[in-house]
Amino acid sequence: MHSSIPPRRVPLVADTPVILPALLLCDFGHLADEIKKLEQAGAKALHLDVMDGQFVPQLTYGKVVVEAVRRAATVPIEVHMMVENQDESAIDYAATGADIITVHIEGLLRPKETLASISSTGCRAHLAISPNTPVSDIESLLSHCAGVLVMSVEPGFGGQAFQPSALDKIRLLSELRASQDQNFYIGVDGGISTETIASVSQAGADLIVAGSAVLQQENYANALQELEYLAQKPK
Ligand code: DX5
Ligand code: ZN
Repeated sequence: MHSSIPPRRVPLVADTPVILPALLLCDFGHLADEIKKLEQAGAKALHLDVMDGQFVPQLTYGKVVVEAVRRAATVPIEVHMMVENQDESAIDYAATGADIITVHIEGLLRPKETLASISSTGCRAHLAISPNTPVSDIESLLSHCAGVLVMSVEPGFGGQAFQPSALDKIRLLSELRASQDQNFYIGVDGGISTETIASVSQAGADLIVAGSAVLQQENYANALQELEYLAQKPK
């Protein structure tokens, strides 16, 4: 028997960018220890990549692992859905106690309805766009989601090189947010490193996913602190 799922955490407040370590490259044989290490290192939220081997080539983990992470973690968790049938699965994953469910526009048949269903569970509903998807494809949905995740690599694998075309999308989203007086978060995922983090922060990102830049480093705390330092926005 699983113990009951803890209540949802307070939504993130992103005055300065929040860095979300991605668990894709962690040691899954010691998952709870890895989560504890990341939290002790100062992680304020975690990013979980759910891949089904169909929407993307790799297969990672599903609800059972997400629920285990939810029980082990004290910080908010974002579930990044890279699966077929996102409209149905998203609602299922919202029931895991995740704080943010991020769905891909490329995998949705009924974006407005699905975003509304996710939000109705108390989860934040975020919308991801892959590198080939322009911001114009989701412009009409911006008032229906709590955040946008700009993919700066092709979804599917950790450790890929950052695609600079993501910067224009982040800037455009930032401008749209200001001009339309909206308050969705802007996230970025893929290829974030000490070389690239300042550029995404300056472009306007609030939620920055970092996989290999944290999980493949010897010391998680040092890696996170350096990334946080480089991501600081001028006051
Ligand atoms: C890629 C995933 C990313 C990945 C990031 O499909 O969505 O979250 O884990 O890994 P890095 O930061 O190494 O590119
Ligand atoms: Zn991701």
